[in-house]
Amino acid sequence: KSEPLVLGIETSCDETGVGIVRGHTLLADAIASSVDEHARFGGVVPEVASRAHLEAMVPTMQRALDTAGVTLADVDAIAVTAGPGLAGALLVGVAAAKAYAVAADKPLYGVNHLAAHVAVDTLEHGPLPEPAVALLVSGGHSSLLLVDDLASGVTPLGNTIDDAAGEAFDKVARLLGLPFPGGPPIDRAAREGDPASISFPRGLTGPRDLERHRFDFSFSGLKTAVARWVEARQRAGEPVPVNDVAASFQEAVCDVLAAKAVDACRTSGVETLVIGGGVAANSRLRVVAEQRAAKYGITVRVPRPKLCTDNGAMVAALGSHLVAAGAQPSSLDLPADSAMP
Ligand code: KG4
Ligand code: ZN
Repeated sequence: KSEPLVLGIETSCDETGVGIVRGHTLLADAIASSVDEHARFGGVVPEVASRAHLEAMVPTMQRALDTAGVTLADVDAIAVTAGPGLAGALLVGVAAAKAYAVAADKPLYGVNHLAAHVAVDTLEHGPLPEPAVALLVSGGHSSLLLVDDLASGVTPLGNTIDDAAGEAFDKVARLLGLPFPGGPPIDRAAREGDPASISFPRGLTGPRDLERHRFDFSFSGLKTAVARWVEARQRAGEPVPVNDVAASFQEAVCDVLAAKAVDACRTSGVETLVIGGGVAANSRLRVVAEQRAAKYGITVRVPRPKLCTDNGAMVAALGSHLVAAGAQPSSLDLPADSAMP
């Protein structure tokens, strides 16, 4: 018998995603994004996101099935992001998944969005060696996780105590007059700038912070430092060297993320670091993490940028893993849990 065909639905933030996988093979990854509708607000507006999901759900589903060349009847299981995320947005995906599961008589699997960001790497690099350490960096989260078993055993090692890494990119981009979401334009500007030109603070890396917050992150002080630096320039009537600020800010973020992730691997005796979430698409983070990890024989796995940001394939990937592990399907009263750990 061939490997199970699993469909995944993602609606936790501003992307409506439907992915289809067979085992670890990606067959379709359809996405409709409402990012342009949020851009003028400088952040995701929950009501706008929910409405966009509602409009995009059925066409995105159809596009995924067409791309994979299958029908709903061929699918063996339906997985859906049940949390964490925006409550109204999640609800659209969960309700849709239930409806499809009932209509086609398929088992339903509610999955954790963050675990799905880790699982997506299996579509690119095959089964994840366990245990592994995962660095999850997105617009909503910055966490270090110890992954003993993707299906059941994910332990948080640390989290951000204020802003998420992606949020810092978005806020600093706004300061520099770059568009939302800020990660990609900062990444591009930084390529033309000098990362050593301005020394910005590395949050929670001092000896006293490391005692209490060894694997935690803080980016709000960095964001404030960038704001002060830019304001001082403007007050002095001098031009702001956008590329240098972007490069120096990005270097501070990547430096801390890579250092703490490698430290978590060494402390846990783990040889595989997997990086996921939107900020994992950052070109400099990949380089810095690989350089630091190589010193200790740690292998870094980062999926291609399109799989790093939110998508349905990541949900299908985790669903496929759950089916293969013989996990129990969710019941049809599966709630959308915006605060899922
Ligand atoms: O995972 P994701 O698509 O959605 C959430 O679950 O939040 O992550 C979106 C975040 C945004 O903050 C965006 O600015 C950031 O990922 N991002 C990047 C890059 N591409 C996206 N940050 C840094 N460099 C990038 N190339
Ligand atoms: Zn995400």
